[in-house]
Amino acid sequence: MDQSPDLNIDLRQMVIAIETAVSLVGMNDTNHGKRVGYIASQIGSELGFSDLDLQYVFELGLLHDCGVSTEQMHSSLVNHFDWVDAHVHCNIGYQLLRSFEPLSKFAIPILYHHTPWTELSDKNISVQDARMANLIFLSDRIDVLSASHYESDILLAKDAIVQSITGYSGSYFAPELVEAFQRIEQTEAFWIALEDRHITRYTWDMGHISSHQPLTLGQIKQLSLIMSYIVDQKSPFTAQHSVRVADVARFIASSYGLSPAQCDKVEIAGLLHDLGKLHTPDDILDKPGALNSTERAIMNQHSYETYEILRHIEGLGEVARWAAFHHEGVNGAGYPFHPKERDLSTEARIIAVADIFQALVQDRPYRDGMKLEQVLEIINELSDTGKLDKEVTVLVNRLADQCYEIAKGTDPNNNQAYLNLFAD
Ligand SMILES: [Fe+2]
Ligand SMILES: [Fe+2]
Ligand SMILES: [Fe+2]
Repeated sequence: MDQSPDLNIDLRQMVIAIETAVSLVGMNDTNHGKRVGYIASQIGSELGFSDLDLQYVFELGLLHDCGVSTEQMHSSLVNHFDWVDAHVHCNIGYQLLRSFEPLSKFAIPILYHHTPWTELSDKNISVQDARMANLIFLSDRIDVLSASHYESDILLAKDAIVQSITGYSGSYFAPELVEAFQRIEQTEAFWIALEDRHITRYTWDMGHISSHQPLTLGQIKQLSLIMSYIVDQKSPFTAQHSVRVADVARFIASSYGLSPAQCDKVEIAGLLHDLGKLHTPDDILDKPGALNSTERAIMNQHSYETYEILRHIEGLGEVARWAAFHHEGVNGAGYPFHPKERDLSTEARIIAVADIFQALVQDRPYRDGMKLEQVLEIINELSDTGKLDKEVTVLVNRLADQCYEIAKGTDPNNNQAYLNLFAD
């Protein structure tokens, strides 16, 4: 796992991108992870945490809900103080991070971030993990109680919020954490800082403090896989779509003669291309029929959302554009940027073909997965009309059987990635 010559990404940049992506799930309530990270680090600072622990707890706040992909799960998070299925997203987050070394230190606190303080002592975890888990639980609930008051009357609502939280001291939350919260909440600044425009700048500033953990190429791929898993989980119909697009795109890129380093980047762009779908409502993704014009307009925003998530990752460079251009046509048809033909790189054209190819192979709510002949017919038509790149589609026709196997995931040499993610 060598350091990639081209991609030079600090871990914190990716952590912030994960939060930005997950944050899209609750379209009217963005920045939850950022606020939880901020609240937790303010409480930590009051308790005299070291700089390292403060950075840790901020990142833990950013990541704590990485197991949430659907609106349904998200609405439970924001509408209930405690609910029976809370453990589901805790468990998904734990599974996602526990075997990825740079983030595995967050897995246990994420697993227990909805567990009452009184129950943590039975869990056979370290005092530090228990404290961090409970700090996130506390910060999360402060944010949930505050959410409807931001940008309006937060300074008037704060006393009732503090009173409610105080009622759970010694049961849900450790008294030392609640007491630290009671001390810092007395400044108006603490509350005003939670509003959207301030919290995004705060996170931006934190993003410029290097975590001094440059990622290796293997780690960037693994982290992209984790992110693709989060988005593919959003709908049963897109399960494994991103990872299979990545595999098909890599296969085409390498057959096209691109260098191994370019192929790696194509694979990463394939994994990340649909991240913006976290912004698309569940009922549009799962609709068992054609989308109407309003639904189509919402759906078509997703590749721009992908761009917004990825363009802020310093060091990711052109990969962000390749991923975001996956619905652009060579002839200017497509969306959302309409780049000129000369600005549409070979890599982006390959990803566009791989995306359509895989989507046609896969079952969708309104149709079954297609046979190879049908897939090629459509791909070739799109090539004839100038939407897809000619050279790439000719290559895909030549390698049709292999592309089909990879897109379907029946080739045992490919697509094992998700299985590995959850392997013990
Ligand atoms: Fe949560
Ligand atoms: Fe897409
Ligand atoms: Fe896609």
